[in-house]
Amino acid sequence: MSFRQQPAPPARPNRCQLFAPGSRPALFPKMAASAADVINLDLEDSVSPADKPQARGNIIEAISAVDWGRKTLSVRINALDTPYWYRDVVDLLEKGGERLDLIMIPKVGCSEDIYAVDALVTAVERAMGRTKKIGFEVIIESAAGISHVEDIAKASPRLTAMSLGAADFAASMGMQTTGIGGTQDNYYMLQQGARHWSDPWHWAQTAIVAACRTHGILPVDGPFGDFSDDEGFRAQARRSATLGMVGKWAIHPRQVALANEVFTPSDTQVTEAREILAAMEDARQRGEGATVYKGRLVDIASIRQAEVIVAQSELIAAA
Ligand code: COA
Ligand code: MG
Repeated sequence: MSFRQQPAPPARPNRCQLFAPGSRPALFPKMAASAADVINLDLEDSVSPADKPQARGNIIEAISAVDWGRKTLSVRINALDTPYWYRDVVDLLEKGGERLDLIMIPKVGCSEDIYAVDALVTAVERAMGRTKKIGFEVIIESAAGISHVEDIAKASPRLTAMSLGAADFAASMGMQTTGIGGTQDNYYMLQQGARHWSDPWHWAQTAIVAACRTHGILPVDGPFGDFSDDEGFRAQARRSATLGMVGKWAIHPRQVALANEVFTPSDTQVTEAREILAAMEDARQRGEGATVYKGRLVDIASIRQAEVIVAQSELIAAA
């Protein structure tokens, strides 16, 4: 490792973030009763302009009125180029009670976006004498956002998580697709006439994971639009988990179990990780730094890999 240590991310389960529009308060108790680790009440793009004030009121009431249990409770505010966002922040913090954990800032393009929200949040928190500090999560969903992803990741100690928003990202990048995540028909390689589909989200995801891991933030995969396609969701989520992301959004309740399934290390994975740790402990006692496990090399780096899986499973079991 570098002399500069990689900070640990927040120790909270974040396998699934379930969204619903702030304008549909009937969904809030169903969200609270779901198996999602994080609840995102939305004031942004799922709420029409005319409904913004009512949605704000619904959310402010529900923050205290609904029993959210041990879930992380987050509200997505409007983007900084709208006339709504300052009122979202001020009303949430002045009227919303202390149960709120996070504010999600969409369409972040530079670290100054976070600085601006931080300044406003800090002022309202002080004025109100709020004791619990609000955390932030952001969505990377623009060309600017991905270009400045590392600056954004270190913009504020309030920042706890970062998601990739595939739809707005695709629009901002000028990508020729209307799909929200997943396989894109036209993104393929040809080999001897056969098509092999590739992953157009891979680079952005990897950039987000690297920025997040460098600065101790949770990397999260955003929405998968076709909620009738369970296998498509699973495939996208498995790729994200393989790349180091800790969870994925659900935009419909049927996606919650799928996300939890993929982002909970399986019994087989955990057993294997523990066996690798045991094999390496035996090796250490023999004075060796490398050994053979199931016919393949394991060494001291394997300990760190196995520890990722064991730590993730223990975190989830403790929640
Ligand atoms: N959270 C919790 N429960 C939800 C839900 C959600 N996001 N969406 C739907 N449900 C409930 C419905 O109320 C219904 O419950 P019931 O069986 O008790 O009647 C059940 O799940 C099935 O819902 P369904 O009829 O299939 O969905 P819908 O037509 O009511 O709504 C969407 C579909 C996509 C419009 C809705 O799920 C939604 O608004 N999703 C979130 C969109 C969003 O927040 N986008 C911003 C982030 S990208
Ligand atoms: Mg978006």
